[in-house]
Amino acid sequence: MADLSTKVTGIEFKSPLLLASGILGETAASMDRVMAEGAAGVVTKSIGTDPREGHGTPAYLDLEVGTINAMGLPNPGIDAYVKELADMKGGGPVMGSVFGKDAREYASLAVRMERAGCRAVELNLSCPHAEKTGLELGADTGKVGEITAAVCKAVGVPVWVKLSPTLPNMVEVARTARDAGAGAVVLTNTLKSMVISVEAKMPVLANGMGGMGGPALKPVALRCVWEVRRALGDSIDIVGVGGIGTGRDVAEYLMAGARAVQMGSAVAGSGPAVFRTVERELDVLLTRLGHGSVGELVGLAVPEVVK
Ligand code: DHB
Repeated sequence: MADLSTKVTGIEFKSPLLLASGILGETAASMDRVMAEGAAGVVTKSIGTDPREGHGTPAYLDLEVGTINAMGLPNPGIDAYVKELADMKGGGPVMGSVFGKDAREYASLAVRMERAGCRAVELNLSCPHAEKTGLELGADTGKVGEITAAVCKAVGVPVWVKLSPTLPNMVEVARTARDAGAGAVVLTNTLKSMVISVEAKMPVLANGMGGMGGPALKPVALRCVWEVRRALGDSIDIVGVGGIGTGRDVAEYLMAGARAVQMGSAVAGSGPAVFRTVERELDVLLTRLGHGSVGELVGLAVPEVVK
């Protein structure tokens, strides 16, 4: 068996396979289950300061090419959520995902996640359709720098910054996050998109627009990983996310420069057992390619990187 272990921002993971934010990350029991089924770590649902209902339904659809959702960042609020985290059994590292309206709010949420035992915080600067948070902040280089710096100053744990695949200046934003102290960028969130019912003559999602994930996102997010790795080398860690459902998909992201990956749509579609399947596939593929460890693949398809 190949060595599947990896390290992101100093955190050791038994494999590169992590649970993406937003899928099964709302309760201690669901996150424990995902780790029991093979995930090397989990990212929580994105949590804000106050409880939030989210959008009406339909909020999630399966498409031929992937999935689309506009949940509206529903969450119980940080006070209730840290109590939930206290019930976790501790199967592996938990990364706390947070969203807010400004640097001060991101920092205070991050502190609560750190105190609750999260090993890293993931800043959601990329929800594609929320007002005054997410992508509205993450598309503004100045705001990304300000929020990242404030969070890095407030917590001791590593800070991961999750960006949108729509950024025209992806490398510049990633560089800004790095210079502000982020240890990793998570590439990428879902792609702003929509579906229209020709019979009803209206958008299908209650919110109109949503975020697309799954297979159609993979070539886009993979390009983001590769582009950032080519420009920034290993001066910042990269976590790849978007359309991963096989060991081959994981290998592509590793070769593009990611040290770990997150799975969302595949877990929503096939259940958490997909972690073991993908792990086995990755192991077989590594051996077939003549590699003994995950680390050997990182950045292999990025020839410009000076190793
Ligand atoms: C939601 C949040 C996201 O960050 C995303 O990519 C898609 C949907 C949401 O809660 O609506």
